[in-house]
Amino acid sequence: MGEQFPWLAEYSVGIAAIDGQHQRLVAMINELHQALLARRSREVMGAILSQLVDYTELHFTFEESLMARYDYPGQQSHQEDHERMRAKVLALRDEHQAGRTVISLAVMAFLKDWLSGHILGTDHLYKDFFQQEGLR
Ligand SMILES: [Fe+2]
Ligand SMILES: [Fe+2]
Repeated sequence: MGEQFPWLAEYSVGIAAIDGQHQRLVAMINELHQALLARRSREVMGAILSQLVDYTELHFTFEESLMARYDYPGQQSHQEDHERMRAKVLALRDEHQAGRTVISLAVMAFLKDWLSGHILGTDHLYKDFFQQEGLR
């Protein structure tokens, strides 16, 4: 079965470490989708979702420290975008843990848009800036 959320070349922000982190987030969303299609248990789904939330935090913190170190002008609005994204996946994880929601195809579509929309929008805004700072 093909991946539901394939990595596209256009997702690249030109920085190897960040592309690697984005690829890992994409892989986790694919893993959750595969688990859904395989009708895995709530516990298994919850564990994958929890890993996704934890790795999201690691990735956002990495980007935020990079933006701070280089004094990126768009830092504030980028961070606010991260805060909104954090709140959404934390709420999803909490609702799932409490048994008030299930991972559905609609939730998978939301997660795919949640990540790809941010990469192609807000993350791509720092591409030229970091490129000029010599990051690869
Ligand atoms: Fe970001
Ligand atoms: Fe990112």
